Amino acid sequence: MKTAVHTAILLVSSALIAPIAFAEGDAERGEALAYTCLGCHGIDGYRNAYPSYRVPRLGGQKAAYLIAAINGYRDGTREHATMHGQAASLSDEQVADIAAYLATRGTATVEAGGSDVETFEKAATCVACHGQNGISVSPAWPTLAGQHEDYIIAALNQYRDGTRKEPVMSQMAAPLSDEDVRVFARYYSRLKGLETTQPEKAD
Ligand code: HEC
Ligand code: HEC
Repeated sequence: MKTAVHTAILLVSSALIAPIAFAEGDAERGEALAYTCLGCHGIDGYRNAYPSYRVPRLGGQKAAYLIAAINGYRDGTREHATMHGQAASLSDEQVADIAAYLATRGTATVEAGGSDVETFEKAATCVACHGQNGISVSPAWPTLAGQHEDYIIAALNQYRDGTRKEPVMSQMAAPLSDEDVRVFARYYSRLKGLETTQPEKAD
């Protein structure tokens, strides 16, 4: 665990030195494009069929992370049949526009420091990237605050069993027990942050 954290922190420092460059999209165009997406992501109780977990909240998520996630589904590096179907026909420009729109929704746009929930000790290793209050410190890393509890569990288990591959998180998730996963999911889902963006609330 110590070595994994060390490597991870080294990766973080180099990422911080080189500022993340990504093309910022047009949020207005993104709003129109995201309409079909909100047919699932805009409904709080909407679930992935099997295994069953709620679809992730996207309102207020970091733009560069959204771009990476959507491109991952589109290009097949992140496997999910439904999301592949949704992303397959999007151009780079459309992906950037959708990300720009979603990133400005919700309250997760506030900088770290606004939560009254105490950071618990176990999350100390996660803070370097996901922030003091679960609001990530870089546009390239996902905010976890306010994400659905069962989605966080599903995501961490995907890293643990290798169905979702990403060098940093695979290393971070590998040593976690089932109990750790439940504790993290409970903790982050209860922080204020991401929101379910609904089409009718979109202005
Ligand atoms: C039919 C329902 C459905 C529709 C429509 C849909 N999604 Fe998804 N989306 C899902 C599910 C289920 C997941 C979780 C997949 C997983 O576990 O990787 C997901 C995951 C995502 C994620 C990953 C979030 C994260 O935190 O990693 C992004 C980003 C995303 N969707 C964007 C979109 C966009 C953009 C559209 C429209 C072009 C869209 N989705 C349309 C069901 C849907
Ligand atoms: C070195 C930086 C770093 C550290 C430390 C880190 N993460 Fe991550 N985390 C990331 C990155 C980058 C991603 C996105 C990876 C991808 O594209 O799949 C991510 C993704 C996630 C996701 C999926 C989010 C989503 O929307 O799908 C969860 C859950 C998560 N991390 C939890 C944790 C927990 C819990 C810890 C502490 C045990 C932790 N992370 C430590 C960088 C980090």
